[in-house]
Amino acid sequence: MPIITEIADLKRIYQRRVPKMFYDYAESGSWSEQTFRDNVNDFSDIRLRQRIAVDMDGRSLATTMAGQVVAMPVALAPIGLLGMQCADGEIKAAQAAEKAGVPFCLSTMSICSIEDVAAETSKPFWFQVYTLKDDDFMKRLMERARTAGCETIVITVDLQILGQRHKDVKNGLSAPPKLTPRSIANMATKVPWGLEMLGTKRRFFGNIVGHAQGVSDPSSLSSWAAEAFDPSLNWDRIKELMDMWGGKVVLKGILDVEDARMAAEIGADAIIVSNHGGRQLDGALSSIRMLEPIVEAVGDKVEVWMDGGIRSGQDVLKAVALGAKGVMLGRSYVYGLGAMGEAGVTKALEVIGRELDMSMALCGRRNIKDVDRNILLVPDGFSGSFSSNS
Ligand code: GLV
Repeated sequence: MPIITEIADLKRIYQRRVPKMFYDYAESGSWSEQTFRDNVNDFSDIRLRQRIAVDMDGRSLATTMAGQVVAMPVALAPIGLLGMQCADGEIKAAQAAEKAGVPFCLSTMSICSIEDVAAETSKPFWFQVYTLKDDDFMKRLMERARTAGCETIVITVDLQILGQRHKDVKNGLSAPPKLTPRSIANMATKVPWGLEMLGTKRRFFGNIVGHAQGVSDPSSLSSWAAEAFDPSLNWDRIKELMDMWGGKVVLKGILDVEDARMAAEIGADAIIVSNHGGRQLDGALSSIRMLEPIVEAVGDKVEVWMDGGIRSGQDVLKAVALGAKGVMLGRSYVYGLGAMGEAGVTKALEVIGRELDMSMALCGRRNIKDVDRNILLVPDGFSGSFSSNS
């Protein structure tokens, strides 16, 4: 068993274990991947202030996200196709999150269905929906989530159309994977992954296949997106979907101050500053650069979280210090899941939790709720700024 001390260790094992098609799906951004790279790299422009001789006994990372008590300000982001990274991946990630005391958000594009995850967990998880045209399907999805005990819904608002990720097109991404000479040759080198996959029945999009109408290829994310997503989305429709749910709503995919103001005005419980992991608008600013202006504009009206580029506890600390009430982890836990299943997600959360705790202490803080911008050195001009209202 290799010694794992950082997220990069999990990534190396993940890359060896999982078929290229699914590794590439997680590890890519749209077009030139500039925003995908910036999400990670921009964190290193912010530095932490080392402090000494401050009592660091009795530390606490506990806080709340959308009213829910969390062991640390971290939730597992909704990620499509987790059940292709590892057999029954959504169930395993949800179980690891539950044990770690952090929320798990199930994606609509999951392999395990809402019902599968509910049957294998004991606490409410969150459920993510896209903004789809089909009202009946949206209502049924929300009803299924309610019946499964979900209390919080995350509405993805930055995916009216799907950004192009070159690798997915070239690999012919699908679930289950289409059998071509190239995919068979690659999967033949991934024996432990393949044996586990043969041991589960869950190899299709569990929330969609058999539930959504008029989908010509239910194994393909891109054809489903082209047919089902709503290119005419507007704020009235977002509000309609929030009312359709009627409970707690988080809006995911806000990267602009004006949009953040709208989200606060229509009563979202939280917003996630996000560019969809650099998978939508290539060339957009990184999430960490947009965090502070958005917190300044709406932080007193709505909880602001962020995602994108978090690979360490130091990154979480920087985001919290810039005003995020919480962050969502995406790829960092996918690496763990693909590497070692549930144990790998647990490992990813342990690594990030420990780094966060120790870095907070070395900055002279004992409680995550006391972390603020004073622990940071942020270069002038780091944050995105705006000159117009439109
Ligand atoms: C879906 O939301 C994706 O980014 O692939």
